Amino acid sequence: MIRHTTRTELSKKQKKSNRNFKMREYKNLQFVAGMAMVTLLVALFNCGDARASDVGNCLLCHKYPGLSRIGENGKFRLFYVNENIFMNSVHAKVKCEGCHTDIQKIPHEPAKKVDCLRECHIIEPSSEQKFSHKEVAEFLSNSVHTKLDEKQKPKKYAEDMPYCLDCHDNPLYRPLSFFKRVRPGISEMALGRCRVCHKNDEFIFRFYNHVTTRLHTIRSPKNIAEMCGRCHDDPKVVARHNLTTKAVYSYGETFHGKAASYLDERIPDCLDCHVNRGKSVHQMLSHKDPLSITYETNKAAICSNIDCHPKATPRLANYKVHMEFDPIQSPREYYFKVFFITLTGGTLLPLMGIMFLDLFRRLFPNIKITRRK
Ligand code: HEC
Ligand code: HEC
Ligand code: HEC
Ligand code: HEC
Ligand code: HEC
Ligand code: HEC
Repeated sequence: MIRHTTRTELSKKQKKSNRNFKMREYKNLQFVAGMAMVTLLVALFNCGDARASDVGNCLLCHKYPGLSRIGENGKFRLFYVNENIFMNSVHAKVKCEGCHTDIQKIPHEPAKKVDCLRECHIIEPSSEQKFSHKEVAEFLSNSVHTKLDEKQKPKKYAEDMPYCLDCHDNPLYRPLSFFKRVRPGISEMALGRCRVCHKNDEFIFRFYNHVTTRLHTIRSPKNIAEMCGRCHDDPKVVARHNLTTKAVYSYGETFHGKAASYLDERIPDCLDCHVNRGKSVHQMLSHKDPLSITYETNKAAICSNIDCHPKATPRLANYKVHMEFDPIQSPREYYFKVFFITLTGGTLLPLMGIMFLDLFRRLFPNIKITRRK
């Protein structure tokens, strides 16, 4: 679910039944009172500071955190849109109706699902074509996450495959600061440079942001792992698709994942290893696919690439990046780990005991333990 509203998880079935739900049946629900008040507000103030993307004045109502009701299935639904988050999100320049095309009147009919592949009003400057995300869908259909198998038939459990909203929740930009790396955000120093030649601040802000945010991932490695973990740590999904590991959990067990959990950004995240160089992040392939960089005979190149371990020999790639320390799956590593924990504990604990007794004797040199007669 997209993050400009607060996350309310609706199953597909629930969403469908929402759509079938008729407006007149709402009458007995408590939100009507709130709605009447809000409608009154519409009449009273004709919203002065409507922002560029809010042509339809949608936020007039949707900016109220209380705009919610209990759905027909008893689930809480929140229709609040946080203006601040929305206005700083990737879609800030798209007006509400640009995506919610079916919302024409107030009160609305139940909304249709938003189509992420719609063409929008923007012209993409290098091709001069109308802009849309259609290409992304194509990349997805060439990836391991496609719903169709090689014969173009639906895969078994096709409903487990991720689509746009399963991975994307409209993240905020995380702008890059080139200068001194002290804080994120637009660097005034850099803007000063642009102003030498460009005169319009809006232009400068927009393009500075546009380019700099794409020079690194919008999410941190930790966030990316969390994104994938929604499915790849779900034991049911792992079992249904014959995967061998809880991928995010196992990543977290390795040095890479541990560093990611401390917000280190230099270490590889899922995308660094699973996306072939120069390809869209949406085109991840199975490690059984010979075209994939994670394929047995290709994977050495991941480790030894110039940004990571340039001097590494192919043997480094034998290192299991997805290792669950499990006595059945990886007995050698498991018992090795147990041995080291025992060794460390077995060495440190007696040592600490001796030190404690020694300290005790130093503090109380004359103390004696004598049995009472
Ligand atoms: C007069 C107040 C008001 C205005 C203005 C308004 N809305 Fe709403 N909107 C509501 C209320 C109340 C609900 C909850 C309806 C319900 O209970 O299903 C809602 C629900 C929605 C939903 C979810 C509906 C569903 O069935 O899932 C969407 C999407 C939505 N509004 C989009 C918009 C857009 C886009 C605009 C601007 C064009 C807009 N709204 C303007 C009051 C308003
Ligand atoms: C980039 C496209 C996009 C834009 C722009 C957009 N939305 Fe949405 N909105 C979505 C998607 C996707 C959903 C998730 C439901 C769905 O798939 O239809 C959603 C859901 C909603 C919901 C329903 C939440 C729920 O729990 O059912 C409301 C209300 C809503 N949007 C209001 C707005 C308002 C108000 C604006 C303008 C400030 C806006 N949206 C702008 C794509 C968009
Ligand atoms: C398997 C998860 C997944 C699915 C499904 C997915 N995306 Fe993405 N998408 C990502 C990741 C990961 C990124 C990079 C995020 C970052 O930079 O932090 C991304 C980035 C993007 C970008 C920015 C350009 C880029 O490639 O870096 C766009 C636009 C985008 N996705 C659109 C879509 C659309 C539209 C769909 C549905 C057709 C979709 N995505 C489905 C994971 C996914
Ligand atoms: C030394 C002068 C100079 C500086 C400094 C400069 N630009 Fe430019 N910029 C230009 C010129 C001249 C063009 C037109 C070049 C062309 O069309 O080949 C241009 C073109 C652009 C364009 C393409 C616009 C279009 O519609 O084709 C963008 C975007 C842009 N600059 C952004 C920036 C940003 C952001 C900064 C600061 C980080 C910056 N520029 C710094 C001189 C400069
Ligand atoms: C909505 C659930 C879902 C999400 C979210 C998701 N995946 Fe997947 N992924 C799957 C399923 C299901 C498969 C099994 C596909 C198959 O075998 O046909 C899969 C397969 C894969 C594979 C191939 C495994 C192999 O055989 O080598 C990789 C790699 C992968 N996903 C990476 C990712 C990454 C990275 C992310 C996060 C950006 C992600 N996935 C997000 C459901 C998901
Ligand atoms: C350091 C590189 C690296 C990183 C980081 C990485 N992977 Fe992998 N992944 C691999 C390789 C290589 C394989 C192929 C199997 C093997 O060699 O262990 C693989 C296999 C997989 C598989 C298939 C495993 C199976 O059970 O069949 C999935 C799913 C997967 N990775 C998802 C992810 C996700 C999600 C993340 C992020 C949390 C991630 N990977 C991070 C390199 C990596």
